[in-house]
Amino acid sequence: MKILVTGGTGFIGSHTVVELQKQKFEVLIADNLSNSSIDVLDNIAGITGVLPDFEKVDLSEREATAGLFNRHPDIKAIIHFAASKSVGESVDFPLKYYRNNLNSLINILEEMTKHEIHDIVFSSSCTVYGQADELPVRETTPIKPAWSPYGNTKQICEEIIRDNGRVSKIQASMLRYFNPIGAHESALIGELPLGVPNNLIPYITQTAIGIRDYLRVWGDDYNTPDGTAIRDYIHVVDLAEAHIAAINRLLDGKNEVPVEVFNLGTGKGYSVLEVIHSFEKMSGVKLKYKIQNRRPGDIEKVWADTTRANKVLGWVAKRGLDDMTLSAWNWEKHLAELKNKGK
Ligand code: UD1
Repeated sequence: MKILVTGGTGFIGSHTVVELQKQKFEVLIADNLSNSSIDVLDNIAGITGVLPDFEKVDLSEREATAGLFNRHPDIKAIIHFAASKSVGESVDFPLKYYRNNLNSLINILEEMTKHEIHDIVFSSSCTVYGQADELPVRETTPIKPAWSPYGNTKQICEEIIRDNGRVSKIQASMLRYFNPIGAHESALIGELPLGVPNNLIPYITQTAIGIRDYLRVWGDDYNTPDGTAIRDYIHVVDLAEAHIAAINRLLDGKNEVPVEVFNLGTGKGYSVLEVIHSFEKMSGVKLKYKIQNRRPGDIEKVWADTTRANKVLGWVAKRGLDDMTLSAWNWEKHLAELKNKGK
């Protein structure tokens, strides 16, 4: 059974391709390689023994998307990761975000109807909740006005899927990710930030390996036990496994309504300092960091109520924070080895 994975050479996409192949799905990746490398294909094959089929396509272009679907009439379902995802960049270039994230979804939904493909898993984000009034955050927790164009694209995409679900046969699973980190245990695939990373874990590992001077901890005056902000970090392989559960539920017709939503996290929140301490323990490296003012737009704390995903998808996040920080470190060391070899 062929699954189209858009953004399949990216961080979460590549880990999901590995899990799909392990479950004997045939995978076609479509990616414009704007934020990922073609080498990821070989690295996936290095883990699973199977080279995924690949097309370089910009899904925000209508004709290019139509061509992709015409060439692959045997696509049975879609996992749609392809999107721009940097909060800061989205503030500077909002139209890039609206064009890329909205057009690609619309193009895909139109092609799905044309080709009678009914099942799509969509990458959403806990960013839709903003600073929620209740913790842990449930799927029914009210959505807050978005703080960034990026967050707004996720909210609008969810609405597009819902509206379209009312008038088409398309059924969807919208997965709201909390903070995905870590890497595959093989250290062959992981997160590959372009330029200076914005996110915590790549900044930590790049500092520890000597690429960055020190980590800036954005604020220690939050209303949390140690004053630093709290997030629900989830191992990317756990997240990938959730996609298998979600796509199988759609393919098996087990969904109760056409469009379902699931929070994907561990249900536990960790502060920035707790993440640093886990990293130091697992890597044996003392991390240089300095406390700075709060980062504009950051929220204080958020973590998931995962009851619904656990019960309905029959999925649970199994890997703890130490697994996450260790696997991220092994991946950074692997990248350094490649660099030393001049690759
Ligand atoms: C946010 C969004 C998430 C989105 C992601 C994409 C929320 C709750 N989360 O994640 O949905 O997918 O952006 O980029 O809106 N930190 C530092 N120093 C650093 C980097 C980060 O102290 O150099 C701190 C941050 O202040 C934050 C935590 O680490 O408290 C995690 O930050 P980050 O990894 O950037 O993710 P979020 O901002 O939580």
